[in-house]
Amino acid sequence: MSTENNIGTYLGIDLGTSNTVVSFFKSGKFEQVKFKRKNIIPSALYYENKDKVIFGDIALKKGSNDPSHLITAFKRDMGSNNKYTLSFENDENKTCNHYIIDTNIFIKEPGILNSFSLDDKIHLSLTVQSELSHRKKQKETSVAAEIALDSINNISDQENIVFEESNRDLLPEDLTANSPNDDNDNRILSVAVKVKNEDLNQQIKLITNDNGLILKAKAIKVDCLTLEDFRTSRNISVDNNLQITQLIVTPQKASELFLKYIKSESETFIKGDINSAVITVPANFNQSQVELTKKAGLNAGFKDIRIMKEPIAAGMAYALDREDNKKILVYDFGGGTFDATFLEVGSNKLSVLGVHGDSKLGGEDITKIIEELIYDELEDTVELSMFDFEESELDKESFVKNKFAIKKIAEDAKLTLSEYEDTTIEIPSLINKNNELINLNMELTRAQFDDAIIDIRKRSLDIVKELISTSGFTAKDVDMIVMAGGSSNIPSIYSSIEDTFGFSPLINKDTALVISEGAVIEAIQLWDISNAVQERISYNDKALFDFGIGMKSNKFDVLVPIHHLLPYRVEKNYTTEKNNQESLLIRAFQRREGYEKSIKTHDKGLEFVDELVVYNLPPSAVGEFKIKVTFELTKDDTLNMSVLIYDKDNNEIDSNNVKIKKASQE
Ligand SMILES: Nc1ncnc2c1ncn2[C@@H]1O[C@H](COP(=O)(O)OP(=O)(O)OP(=O)(O)O)[C@@H](O)[C@H]1O
Ligand SMILES: [Mg+2]
Repeated sequence: MSTENNIGTYLGIDLGTSNTVVSFFKSGKFEQVKFKRKNIIPSALYYENKDKVIFGDIALKKGSNDPSHLITAFKRDMGSNNKYTLSFENDENKTCNHYIIDTNIFIKEPGILNSFSLDDKIHLSLTVQSELSHRKKQKETSVAAEIALDSINNISDQENIVFEESNRDLLPEDLTANSPNDDNDNRILSVAVKVKNEDLNQQIKLITNDNGLILKAKAIKVDCLTLEDFRTSRNISVDNNLQITQLIVTPQKASELFLKYIKSESETFIKGDINSAVITVPANFNQSQVELTKKAGLNAGFKDIRIMKEPIAAGMAYALDREDNKKILVYDFGGGTFDATFLEVGSNKLSVLGVHGDSKLGGEDITKIIEELIYDELEDTVELSMFDFEESELDKESFVKNKFAIKKIAEDAKLTLSEYEDTTIEIPSLINKNNELINLNMELTRAQFDDAIIDIRKRSLDIVKELISTSGFTAKDVDMIVMAGGSSNIPSIYSSIEDTFGFSPLINKDTALVISEGAVIEAIQLWDISNAVQERISYNDKALFDFGIGMKSNKFDVLVPIHHLLPYRVEKNYTTEKNNQESLLIRAFQRREGYEKSIKTHDKGLEFVDELVVYNLPPSAVGEFKIKVTFELTKDDTLNMSVLIYDKDNNEIDSNNVKIKKASQE
């Protein structure tokens, strides 16, 4: 590690569903990055237009008048298929974008032409069809090439599709000299230069995933987009009649944009560059959620990202100054997730005794219960049904506006009830089915509220009880309870814990900051060469799932058992299933705690993690090859899977002859 890696070049980020806290370490102290003078920033994005995003408090403020352009709780959607679709009216005088598409992109996304609008101009090499016809003859690319050719033929007469002749003479000599054989690159680049020469003010983007081509394009100042960038940020479809542009944003893209903002604000605040960050995630985030969070961080511009579990970070912060051994229950009821963790801390050592939680249980659900009480009241008093869009008989915009207004008031009422015994819920401007403004006024007492959330309290208590008993302890063994997360401020939640354990949990006044400070401690240990924290805290982490692979008849074969100490590396040998098998598909799965009875990969509790595909295996008899699969589960919760293949004489098969592809690396 270089000596440039000074204090301040790394962050600890508690990336929350509702709020994010960013800490760093300076002159022997933890500090928080301030966002508009506050040390917490709401995890929210608001799109002013399709190219301009604002963040945090202002995003929430603007979003309250225009909820359809607001994105919140993206953390909760990580790894799911949920996407946010935002519509924008097209600008009258918007500029026309020019795209040049590398032929290889058609193999990856044969239908790419359908993703453009009529306002986009697409320039293709005149030889694209003959190149694809050639690919059609090759086994691996034949299907994609055929679909691509069909799609080009179908829309080739559209005015915005232009077939361009290439002219290598347009390229600087040193560029072509470097790669005399690379016809494809030169063809595409010369088309780009030609289009650029026609009008220097035009926006030109070359879509390619080829790093070599990207470098060359940079040299001649042609902007590039990878297919992934194109799909996520410019995934635009246009309804030409309405002149509406739709932008589709994935949760991971939202996370990436948010982290990019966090990074740049932190750099301004700290007055220095930031290279790395420890980002915390809920303990039971699955592999794909963990990996997507890590990727979002790297795409946001951090050079190094480590993922750490939120309760471990909380435990770290508490372990820092404890001499004696204590068993601590960390009860973290946040905005989107509930995590319970049982830790043993002391003598600068931290071990995880057990982890449990529900990634779909949080303050948002509690607010939802109040929203539903309001819906009930509206049905009873003004015959407005807000449970369902169809039943409401409202237009979409009014329905969304009402919903947002109710949600906001419900959230305020919830916070008030943590302080007072009752509250008045007043919404002055709801819209009814006759398009009139109506007024809602209702009383809600803390007792009614506590009654309505009884199931939520029970769910969280059950998780805690199960955690203590599956860790092999009883409630009496718990020395201390640390309450974290905003929802722990609800009096009945706090008292239900008190009743269960017979003593008062600790609400440290810095609960909101504890997780990000724990993340900084880990960051110091990872990246700080100046030994800022003298006493290092080591921690034992455990696998929170069974990890294994899917076998014949979808049987789940465990390689890493749940609760195994991390990091852990394990190898297991398998073999082929038939004579002259040409390819192999190795699929990794993880099984949640409590689903030991699920033994097939499609059973409940099992989730797909990643896959390895091995092509071009040389001929062999069934059972002749030894296929050695290695699973490596790192401390930051990443599964690295690899495979080696040996022939019958136990010689490793040259990996140049077999092609291995990992799904997560696509
Ligand atoms: N005084 C309070 N009473 C009740 N609920 C509260 C209070 N303060 C905050 N909350 C709720 O806590 C939640 C936010 O908590 P927190 O900031 O810990 O969550 P987060 O870290 O963003 O989410 P997560 O950790 O689940 O990803 C919100 O749902 C908020 O309504
Ligand atoms: Mg949190």
